[in-house]
Formats: sequence, structure tokens, C-alpha cells
Amino acid sequence: MADVPYSPGLEGVIAAETSLSYLDVEHEQIVIRGYDLIELATKVDYVRVAYLLISGHLPDAEEYQSFTKQLTAFQAVPQQIYAVMEALGPSTHLMDSLRTALSALATFDSALDRKDEENTWRQSMTLLATMPAIVANSYHIKNHQPIITPDPALNYSSNFLKMITGRIPDDIESRAFDQLLTVYSEHEMPNSTFTAIVIASTLSDMYGALVGAVASLKGTLHGGANEAVMKMLLEMKTPGQVEPYLMNKLAQKERIMGFGHRVYMKKPDPRAVLMKESLKQLVAVKGHEDLYDMCVKGEELIHREKGLFPNLDYYAAPVYYLLDVPIDLYTPIFFAARTTGLVAHVREQYAHNRLFRPRVLYTGPRDLHP
Ligand code: ACO
Repeated sequence: MADVPYSPGLEGVIAAETSLSYLDVEHEQIVIRGYDLIELATKVDYVRVAYLLISGHLPDAEEYQSFTKQLTAFQAVPQQIYAVMEALGPSTHLMDSLRTALSALATFDSALDRKDEENTWRQSMTLLATMPAIVANSYHIKNHQPIITPDPALNYSSNFLKMITGRIPDDIESRAFDQLLTVYSEHEMPNSTFTAIVIASTLSDMYGALVGAVASLKGTLHGGANEAVMKMLLEMKTPGQVEPYLMNKLAQKERIMGFGHRVYMKKPDPRAVLMKESLKQLVAVKGHEDLYDMCVKGEELIHREKGLFPNLDYYAAPVYYLLDVPIDLYTPIFFAARTTGLVAHVREQYAHNRLFRPRVLYTGPRDLHP
């Protein structure tokens, strides 16, 4: 064991083979099955990207139609799932509600443990199709509001946003939300995806793999950062407050949420660049110029002081805000969008499985006796 290199946090370690995605940091490109994620986000919709990730190719017109039909057919969430969510305590974090709902959903799958292509496709459809209703209603349940059911007449993103806000979004809002879902859809091997494939590698079921991924994504060093960013922006209030607020945090050696990334430490996150543009476009129609100015000032200051770039969560947070999404839902929506990448990774893991079982660098005592 002595000659095996140890890398805390598995930094720089190649942990898996995948044909799904790759972060080409040098060329500032996120490769998704051969395509550039940012180009996909600007040219095709989230559902097409989901199909690409799960099946391996972009759908033709017929495949797209059949895929959207399947998503509609699988939309219904068993009432018992909502009953389980309603039984949770008053201080429930919505990521914990989502984690519990996914766990409960597994118990309604009569072919839970089958790993063949057809069955894991069906399970992927179930997860992708039910996620908007589960996520949106986790908020309504917690706030004692009526459950909102999916509207099959709307496309995936418009329906998702409508179930959250209660109103049909206009085209600009729907497009911005769809782009947000797309940039969150897949990102190579973050902690949550790693968690999911580690669980899948024991041949545990797909739902269980995603339940683990929810717990991982909840953390503020990962998906939870988007909620923290918005709280920080609201605390700063005005562009004039950005400098004193952030300088004070830096003086106290606090981490600034929405900055830095294990892989992009020295390069911009291309997703953040696109979300910044999306924010600019939303501000042009909805106002809130101050919010945009605060974000830009914060970006400039942290780059000046720490040399760090904003990550996706930094600009996704104000985009959510302008779309009237409640802050508690920012991380659950990140997870909902990532479902497509996660189920694709789990399917890939089942198809080429090798159990994950690393070793340790033992630092404890030896030769003790009771
Ligand atoms: N604020 C202040 N300093 C930072 C930040 C930050 N957000 N991020 C990194 N640094 C500094 C560290 O203090 C460290 O400096 P030092 O070498 O002087 O001690 C250096 O940059 C390297 O930081 P590490 O912690 O070693 O980097 P790591 O790869 O472990 O962390 C992480 C990556 C967790 C994302 C980190 O940048 C962070 O905490 N960011 C804030 C949380 C956040 O935005 N998370 C979202 C990630 S993106 C996503 O999940 C979609």
C-alpha cells in the first residue's frame, strides 16, 4: 500500500471512466457527449439535453415527441408520497423533504432492483418526470399551501416553473429557467455524482443512489451554495455595501459563497458566464439593476482580493430570484435538473460496474490489547 499515492479529498484522482461529460478547463469547455454544454444551453432545450445524456444522442423529431410523451405519462406522483412529506417536522429543509420523498418513491417501484436497459430507462423517466412536482410541492406542503398538479399542456420547464410560482411564465422567463436547468444538468464527477455511482456500484437501486446524491448536494460547499449566495446578496442590499460587506468577511477568513471550485480554481466557470448573461437579459426586462450591479461588483472584488472566479451558483442565485423562485427551492431545483446527469451516470455504472472500495492511510495506534 505504501507506494499508492494518497490525495486528500481525492483531488486530481481519476475515479471513473465515463462517456457522459468532461470538464476541459484549459479550453474553458464543458463537454457533454461531444457537445459544448453552453452551446447546448443556448440552442436546444433541457429535455433534448436530458435525452442526449440518458440515450447518448440528441433526439430527432420523432424521438423527441416520444420522449416528451413518456415524460407526461410518468408525471403522476402517488398521493402517499405527499402524505409522507406532510408528516415531516416543521423545520424540515426542502432537500431533506426531497430525500425522503425519493426514498418513499422507491417503495412504489415493483421492479426496483432490475438493472436491464429497459427498466433503468423507465426508472429514469419516472425520476425525471416526477421531480418537478415533488420539488415544487415540497415548498407548498411546508407552507401549508395546496398541492399543484402538473399541467400537461406546458413544456417541461414552463410546467416546472408554473408549479413553483403558481403562474404560467412568459417566454423570457421560461427560456431563462430552461437554460438554468440545462447548465445544472450534468457536470462530470462532482461529489453528488460520485456519491451516486459509489452507491450504484454495490448494485443498490437507482433511487437509493439518488437519495445519497441529494444528501451530498445539500451541503453548502456543493449545491447548497446557491441559497447562501442569495442570502448574502439580500444582506448586502445595495451596490455600495458590497465592498465593506465582503472585505469584512474576508478579514474574518470566511468563505465567500459562490466563489471558487475544485476544478475551475484558476479559470472561469463557463456556466457562470452564461448565467451572468441570462441575469443581464432578465434585468433588462424586469428591472433590479442594483442586483446585477451588486453581483458584478462582488465578482470584481473577489477576483481582485483572492484571484477567484464565480462558480455557477453565484449567478444562478439572482436568476432564480428574478424568476420569483423561493430561496428554499434553489438547491432542490439544482438537484431536479441534475437528475438527468445522475440517472445517466447510474445507468453507465450498472453497464460497466466495478465496486468502489478504496483503502486508507491508517493513522491510529497498533498492537494495543484489551
Ligand atoms: N472564499 C474565500 N476563499 C476561498 C474560497 C471562497 N469561496 N474558495 C476557495 N478559497 C481559497 C481557500 O481559502 C484556499 O486558500 P488558501 O490556499 O490560502 O488556504 C484556496 O482558495 C483553495 O481552496 P480549497 O478549499 O483548497 O479548495 P477546494 O477545492 O477544496 O474547494 C470549494 C472548492 C469547496 C468549492 C471552495 O471554493 C468553496 O468553499 N467555495 C464556496 C462554496 C461554493 O461556492 N460552493 C459551490 C461550488 S460549485 C457547485 O457545487 C455547483
